[in-house]
Amino acid sequence: MTPDSTPAVPATHRVLLLNSTRDPYDITVVEQPTPQAGPGSAIIQILGASVLTFGGKVFSGQIPYPYPTPFVPGSSAIARVAAVGPDATTLEVGQLVFFDCFIHGRDNPNSLILHGLYSGFDAGSNKLMENEWRNSTYAEYCKVPLENCFPLDERRLLGNPADGGFGYSTADLMFLHTISIPMGGLRDVGVRAGEKVIIAPATGAFGSAAVVAALAMGAQVIAVGRNLEALEKIKLLSPEGRVRTVQNTGDVAHDVQELTKFGPANVFFDISPGEAAKSTHFTSCIQALGRGGRVSLMGAFMELTLPLMSMLQNDISVKAKWMYTKEDMRYIIQLAEAGYLKLGQAGGIQTATLFPLEQFEAAFDAAAKTGPCMQTIFVP
Ligand SMILES: NC(=O)c1ccc[n+]([C@@H]2O[C@H](COP(=O)([O-])OP(=O)(O)OC[C@H]3O[C@@H](n4cnc5c(N)ncnc54)[C@H](OP(=O)(O)O)[C@@H]3O)[C@@H](O)[C@H]2O)c1
Repeated sequence: MTPDSTPAVPATHRVLLLNSTRDPYDITVVEQPTPQAGPGSAIIQILGASVLTFGGKVFSGQIPYPYPTPFVPGSSAIARVAAVGPDATTLEVGQLVFFDCFIHGRDNPNSLILHGLYSGFDAGSNKLMENEWRNSTYAEYCKVPLENCFPLDERRLLGNPADGGFGYSTADLMFLHTISIPMGGLRDVGVRAGEKVIIAPATGAFGSAAVVAALAMGAQVIAVGRNLEALEKIKLLSPEGRVRTVQNTGDVAHDVQELTKFGPANVFFDISPGEAAKSTHFTSCIQALGRGGRVSLMGAFMELTLPLMSMLQNDISVKAKWMYTKEDMRYIIQLAEAGYLKLGQAGGIQTATLFPLEQFEAAFDAAAKTGPCMQTIFVP
């Protein structure tokens, strides 16, 4: 990634093209005409694009996400603005931006897609991804909605510490994407500084990012997981001791006792994969909440059994959340620019593994094995 070059848009560029959904992959790297900016859009030069832990499963069809084919897959990205449409008011060519892959219909904000991954829940969403926003960021350049480009204070984030910068790399900035998802749930239930927030599972990609996010918001964290070694790494995220860890043993009474050792918690945040739908942590974490406790459920699966009697005795409220709002995204960037959210080595986040487009299989494999506070990135 070269953070200091202003791009000129070439006539053609390299993209990762998913021809059809097939296992093993039906994906090739090809040269295509570079898209042009029009009203409402910008062309960004991709410096790095995030790879999800389950991205390989989605693009090989093992997880059946809807998307049109052929198309260029992708995700959120750190990028430089290469061209802007005539209605751009503040975005400028050369500016460093975070591109947010969560695209909303302009005439219907309920039409939602994850650019390069998921064509949404209704016909309007499908239309967005079939046409205007079909090709995503696993490419050298990408056409994106103006409003999905969040300007970054380059001097502050990438600048030399001697000049008041944090000295991050653009790869470090990519972790803003991993944080954005749990931040959506944490803000949705109004996490406040000083509150005790149980995060379970805390050892996965998004769970560990939830710990980073909650710490940046000033909360105390109780990190829950099955794997003690991974939990030890999570504990290191707070040298000042704001992270305690509790193992999910499957014994609810024992786990509740451990979780409430220092008093009842205010919030329980979950971001489980499907395999965890029957995990006992849902019951133990909810039973560890105090009166008026709030629950944010972000794990995406069909059905879940919750301990309703404890919930009604304690006035527990439950919210489910998909992704995050634009305000959440601005807040994350503000926290990073203010220094409350620490990225890269300073934040205990492992240097990303960077892959060129040609090594897509290796990138998807590496992402699937991602441990806590690690990330995998395509650098086209
Ligand atoms: N709502 C949204 O907007 C949104 C957006 C993106 C993703 N998601 C959800 O986030 C989930 C997690 O994604 P990720 O990338 O963080 O996955 P990941 O890195 O693979 O992490 C999975 C976590 O789940 C734990 N786990 C796995 N099986 C378990 C079980 N049977 N019982 C208890 N814990 C179990 C793992 O802990 P161990 O260390 O104990 O194995 C690990 O901490 C996705 O599957 C998706 O459902 C939601």
